Amino acid sequence: MNEPQILRTAAELAAWRTARNGPIHFVPTMGNLHQGHLSLVDAASAEGAAVIVSIFVNPTQFGPGEDFARYPRTVEADLERLAGRCSAVWLPAIDDLYPLGPDAGFRVRVPEALGDILCGAHRPGHFDGVANVVLRLFQHVRPDRALFGEKDYQQLTILRRLAEDFAVGVQIDAAPTVREADGLAMSSRNRYLSEAERRVAPALYRTLTDLASQAADAGEHGDPPSTGTLRALARSGMERLAGHGFEPEYVEFRDAGTLGPPNAEPLRLLAAARLGAARLIDNVVVSRHSRR
Ligand code: PAF
Repeated sequence: MNEPQILRTAAELAAWRTARNGPIHFVPTMGNLHQGHLSLVDAASAEGAAVIVSIFVNPTQFGPGEDFARYPRTVEADLERLAGRCSAVWLPAIDDLYPLGPDAGFRVRVPEALGDILCGAHRPGHFDGVANVVLRLFQHVRPDRALFGEKDYQQLTILRRLAEDFAVGVQIDAAPTVREADGLAMSSRNRYLSEAERRVAPALYRTLTDLASQAADAGEHGDPPSTGTLRALARSGMERLAGHGFEPEYVEFRDAGTLGPPNAEPLRLLAAARLGAARLIDNVVVSRHSRR
């Protein structure tokens, strides 16, 4: 594959788009690319599609006091990582995506049952910001397929629903979380961890995999364990994380498809916890056969 074409304006993107005659696969990112992003780009490259990656740190998904200003912006290094891996990289300007301004334009609202739970309960408005920017990105790129990581499982679930609800005609696909050798999920925010915190951080994944296998063992005849058992396990997870020095925000079992109450299999176990200046999230499938 040749070097990707760097598209800096919506007009350049439109010209690139018009010149394509095959399928377009899209990987939206906020940059600071790591192996997790690259695995999405590689997964997007199947079937001879033209792969386009966007890099845009979206202000509307950061709340007041969050890390928008210090979010790592590493465009030159990102472009080097993408060399030979995709057809084009779009670096939208804020006016391309929010012509009326990020606070003044039209907005979609994620339904409360999906957007105000789990991470949304701790980051009010976050998923509205994600939904708004992804919809706007889709309008410009008009891809056939878009790929998102399972690490942001709530985001992935919301974007699947968004694509369905607005009939955007984009197939939403997921790729598994990419992990460091010690199990820590790769994330741009891992760089906020001190050396000592970095040593502690894999305990999040270890805790989730242990709880998930206890939950899988507690289920009977294909039914999930009782709500009481799952609540007790989740509470023990919160305590265990606190014991390691995390400030856990939530540990919750949920229906893997809807993120509703965990009444039917398959289940997903999701958690968020602060460790020093970093807010870490992770999730695993609850299954007798798989530990991920
Ligand atoms: O997952 C991310 O990096 C962002 O939330 C996304 C989907 C690129 C929207 O800004």
